[in-house]
Amino acid sequence: MALRAGADPARMVFHGNAKSDADVKAAIKANIGYFVIDNFDDVRRIKAFAERPVKALLRVSPSIVAETHKSMATGHDESKFGIPSVQVADAISLIQAEPLIDLRGLHFHIGSQVLKLDQFEAAIEAVARLPRFPVYDLGGGLGERYIRGDHAPSIELYAERVVRAVHKHLGENVEIILEPGRSLIAKSGVSLYRVVTVKCGLRTHVAVDGGMGDNLEVSLYGQKFEPAMVKPGGRMEICDVVGRHCESGDTLAVNAPLNDPQVGDLLVVPVTGAYCFTMANNYNAALKPPVVFCSGGRSRLAVRRETFDDLIARDVLN
Ligand SMILES: Cc1ncc(COP(=O)(O)O)c(C=O)c1O
Repeated sequence: MALRAGADPARMVFHGNAKSDADVKAAIKANIGYFVIDNFDDVRRIKAFAERPVKALLRVSPSIVAETHKSMATGHDESKFGIPSVQVADAISLIQAEPLIDLRGLHFHIGSQVLKLDQFEAAIEAVARLPRFPVYDLGGGLGERYIRGDHAPSIELYAERVVRAVHKHLGENVEIILEPGRSLIAKSGVSLYRVVTVKCGLRTHVAVDGGMGDNLEVSLYGQKFEPAMVKPGGRMEICDVVGRHCESGDTLAVNAPLNDPQVGDLLVVPVTGAYCFTMANNYNAALKPPVVFCSGGRSRLAVRRETFDDLIARDVLN
């Protein structure tokens, strides 16, 4: 577990389905706000390393199969995350018998890119059938509008609906924790690419200087994006925007209407602020792109472009 400068661990919730000894020791030492117990090995590790009571939440599965890509559904009973509902009562008894674990509440997270609010409400209702606590962490998961056809609820409506459901099913005197990620930041990022080749065959492939090295969402989840050329005018063509990696799945968008894509042009892919930079990788020795913050007509470099020296810095020769 690593903390960035300025981060306040006391306001943090510590997650993970595979926390190592070192992770657990670091979280305890940092006096983390809430330790989310995901499994019985977490309990064993807290017992081994805690010297004073650790505030904890228990991650449970609300038995909800979220309507999203299966890789992003995390609230069903066979999920690798949390305790299945049939084992929750036993887990609570076991944890409450530990003097150094202060179990304050329950945590659940049904998945990501969830566009239907009734799924969050169903999870809250399901969790209300479990033993009651003063704290409920509802996780994140609110979906974002990636393409014109997506209908994503606003953050305001989401907050209103989940808070109302908590008050109805769990009572008004509970602490609610929310962990939105994608819905807060996806729209604040765009990816800028340079067109490298344009191949007009049975399909038109517009290949750019990036791809699954900086955007895994398409190949992992089939996420749809709507790229556009950064120039006005020109004849519209239906194109597949592809990356530079050696996989056919290395695609950024299929059937994208683009105006006259030419080698050297800039192409933008909007709504890439979430899960793109964080999942960037060096497949095919691709160098990770820089991150530039822009606001009010001004810009500043936030993360510099990766260099070949960065890439080989950990290689041990001989
Ligand atoms: C436990 C937990 N909370 C919150 C989030 C954030 O989810 P989202 O970005 O869909 O809001 C995640 C994402 O993986 C998560 O695992």
